[in-house]
Amino acid sequence: MENSPIAITGATGFLGRRLVRELLRRGRIVRGLHRAGSPVQAIAGPGVQLREARILDAGQMAWALSGCRAVIHCAAATDATREDINRALNVDAVSVLVRACRDAGVRRLVFLSTTCVTRPLRDSYSSTKLEGELIAAASGLDWTIFRPTMIYGRGSKEFETFLRALRWLPVTPLFGGGGKLIQPVAVWEAARAIALSLERPAALGRKYDLAGPHPIAMKDFARETARALGVRARFAPVPVGPAFHLTKVLGSVWEHPPINTDQVLAFAQDTVVDIEPARRDLDFDPPAYPEGLRRALSGE
Ligand SMILES: NC(=O)c1ccc[n+]([C@@H]2O[C@H](COP(=O)([O-])OP(=O)(O)OC[C@H]3O[C@@H](n4cnc5c(N)ncnc54)[C@H](OP(=O)(O)O)[C@@H]3O)[C@@H](O)[C@H]2O)c1
Repeated sequence: MENSPIAITGATGFLGRRLVRELLRRGRIVRGLHRAGSPVQAIAGPGVQLREARILDAGQMAWALSGCRAVIHCAAATDATREDINRALNVDAVSVLVRACRDAGVRRLVFLSTTCVTRPLRDSYSSTKLEGELIAAASGLDWTIFRPTMIYGRGSKEFETFLRALRWLPVTPLFGGGGKLIQPVAVWEAARAIALSLERPAALGRKYDLAGPHPIAMKDFARETARALGVRARFAPVPVGPAFHLTKVLGSVWEHPPINTDQVLAFAQDTVVDIEPARRDLDFDPPAYPEGLRRALSGE
């Protein structure tokens, strides 16, 4: 059992790829679950077993999970605004996964949620992620739930879009003026804590916020990022209300819009969380921004 594979759904995504690397570094065998057409070349290699399965098909998922000792559930709709897409992937797929775990005899479930679930202003993404959490916590499995804030690092669609905006837009919009606080977390440290949770009994039945060590105002985050890139970015305040409605319209016609309602809502409210439980149980020690940014830009 000790050497049986650890399954990752969404293994080809931004966080999934980091988790594959982290688990291999720890000497684990990884079972990468993916859909047809996923960029599996990003994770293929020694120690990685690939299984294609449809995420809403409990039989295929149980087959893909068979023989694994744990599953880390990363697959999700992460940039959709449409309720039907969010519901299918962030709610229905969790129920299917729980059923598949039971059928395959996999007892350990690590569920990737988000700090957005605790914000007062929520959209379809954050509301459905909260529903997914409730399903995981009621599953009867040995669960751990992680709520990361915005995860930064090379390969994140959101982060790379932001870097491109700073580089190429004549003026980068700061919704609501950029005064709200965020606590971005480095992807490698998030992946390390998630992987370690599989070895720590204290993590069973617990929810952990994963975030950077200090809050930073959105506008300072933007300025620090531009400075680290060596670009002279200019910023302009844009009211949150119209931006939210515009992203809602964009998201209704575009499955993967360049900017979505969840990102706008991050500018409309503070995201400040407590990482002490993760420090205590999982040796979580994230770098501060912009130190972590410099490490990310230099390829960490
Ligand atoms: N990145 C962040 O800042 C952040 C912050 C908080 C929480 N989270 C949570 O962390 C988890 C991982 O996020 P991420 O940033 O790695 O997201 P991501 O890069 O968008 O990856 C999402 C993964 O889900 C898979 N997926 C999407 N639709 C699917 C479908 N219909 N069937 C099967 N697989 C499907 C994707 O497969 P393909 O590779 O084929 O596209 C991809 O592997 C998510 O649960 C997210 O909610 C992320």
